[in-house]
Amino acid sequence: MCGIIGYLGGREATPILMESLKRLEYRGYDSAGVAVLELPKNGAATRTSVTKSEAKVDTLIEKLNANMPTGKLGIGHTRWATHGKPTYINAHPHTDCHGKIFVVHNGIIENFAELKAELKAEGHEFPSETDTEVVPHLIEKYYKGDFLAAVRAALNRIQGAYALAMFSSDDPELLVGARLNAPLVVGLGDDEYYVASDITAIIPYTKRVLVLGEGEVAAVTPLGAEVSTLDGVTVKPKIVHVDWDVTQAQKGGFAHFMLKEIHETDEAIANAMRGRLTDDGLVAFREFEASEEELKKLQEVVLLGMGTSLHAAMIGEHVLEDWVGIPARAMDASEFRYRRPTFGEHTLSVVITQSGETADTLVALHQARERGALTVAVTNVIASSAARDSDGAIYLHAGPEIGVASTKTFNSHLISLYLLAMRLAQANGRISLERRRELVEALRALPDQVRTLLGRDKEILALAHKYSQYRNFMYAGRGLGYPVALEGALKLKEISYVHAEGTSGGELKHGPIALLDEQFPVVAICTASSTKEKMVSNVHEIVARQAPVLALVSEGDSSLNGVATDIFEMPAVEEASSAILNTVMLQLFAYHVATKLGQDVDQPRNLAKSVTVE
Ligand code: G6P
Repeated sequence: MCGIIGYLGGREATPILMESLKRLEYRGYDSAGVAVLELPKNGAATRTSVTKSEAKVDTLIEKLNANMPTGKLGIGHTRWATHGKPTYINAHPHTDCHGKIFVVHNGIIENFAELKAELKAEGHEFPSETDTEVVPHLIEKYYKGDFLAAVRAALNRIQGAYALAMFSSDDPELLVGARLNAPLVVGLGDDEYYVASDITAIIPYTKRVLVLGEGEVAAVTPLGAEVSTLDGVTVKPKIVHVDWDVTQAQKGGFAHFMLKEIHETDEAIANAMRGRLTDDGLVAFREFEASEEELKKLQEVVLLGMGTSLHAAMIGEHVLEDWVGIPARAMDASEFRYRRPTFGEHTLSVVITQSGETADTLVALHQARERGALTVAVTNVIASSAARDSDGAIYLHAGPEIGVASTKTFNSHLISLYLLAMRLAQANGRISLERRRELVEALRALPDQVRTLLGRDKEILALAHKYSQYRNFMYAGRGLGYPVALEGALKLKEISYVHAEGTSGGELKHGPIALLDEQFPVVAICTASSTKEKMVSNVHEIVARQAPVLALVSEGDSSLNGVATDIFEMPAVEEASSAILNTVMLQLFAYHVATKLGQDVDQPRNLAKSVTVE
């Protein structure tokens, strides 16, 4: 995810920007840049020096060291590409037509295409492919001598998510920050100020931090920081004292990237929906624009992936059949290529890959293309091989995932597949307006439900510590709960090295049950679904074999009270929402078991984040 730093004070800005960008590297990024307002010498006009690197911060630092801009006001950025490839031109900061206004941005501007068209028609020129570039041009459009007023007018036109740091060479003592659906803080030092996307960047300089609220603008001058709304109403600043040390802050205060990334699930799933879903459940994907005719002709969907992405594919298969009424198959991509493909041009092939670079998935994608299938990549990485080689892409916009074991992106994949199913159902007229509205309501409630669940981490930790004594685990579920069980087991085994396997509730009696005894616990997914009663019967069968049972049940369901060893109540929600919430719970459970056992959860032995060989 992108990182922002801004500085205004009595010291030279460039070294501070360089240090802070190094500290933002942990977020994952592909390119970087800074803009420093150079003070006029001998009456010359102010000049802004822009330095960018289409690679790492170290390259940017080398460039800056070779040619150090001098000035007390500057902004810097690490970019994680969303709109446009990681190139020099697309790297931030971006500027207006006259090179006076400089902007760095985190987030996604949803209505950038309309704004860009409007501004182009008025003569503005856009060298980059980014959504960000509309911001300096919009500010330029509204600028009548008051920079702050122009910023407000511009932001009132913008939809989506932004954290912004900005300045204008016409106002050499004004640094402006603003946020909506993306975090931004202002660090308050001694006669110096910082604007940053997270506290990590500024923690060595100050522990007094002003946390900007949604839709608020901070005007930072040598006299202090003033906060107001987009309508210009003054807001009392919310100032907090941070007691983190620098090491903790590297992971945003979390002990591991994995834990941090699980805690980013709410934001990740909100990003996967952003700008794609109307209140009536109509879905549009900007980078996958198959025509209504093309979608209507589809006779089947093949979903391909590996590891965690294969489990997401299995949930996609279920939902596509249920909502769209179209035959769907989830397949292990590595197996697919050696089978005789029985599909052709009326097949939609969906490749699911967080990295977009998994070799097995790419080979399967190429085969699907050769057979004339319509292809779409569901991926987190812009311009990755999967995105490039498919007819269309559905980007997760989940931000970087550094922990080797996928967590937040699994749930972003699920949201994307739910939206894809709704898009196909829209084409074939299969879901009623009423049902679509219900689904929209359920999906939109999810980020809050995830946040509430994350707030129960201590309960999950206590359960994990209790169960960390066991060396074998079985996970069982039915319907959407079956792939969730497989994913729960995969998460546990890959980071804790404890043996865990997943099974469908039905299959349990056909073999796995032979393993069970008092030393072999079962995690049973029994949340509300059409097969819940069957799962309850399974739990009785398991308990009869003396195996301990940790059951996930829907709030208020007492059918396993006194039967299961432990019960964890989940919110009573749509089955599609449960798949996400149950997974978050099982990810935290696996995380806490693994850390209790002292394992390196971010980089488990023998595993790689991106498997680029078959
Ligand atoms: C590796 C990772 C898994 C991931 C799988 C597929 O095995 O360790 O976490 O699920 O690759 O990766 P992809 O990038 O294609 O989703």
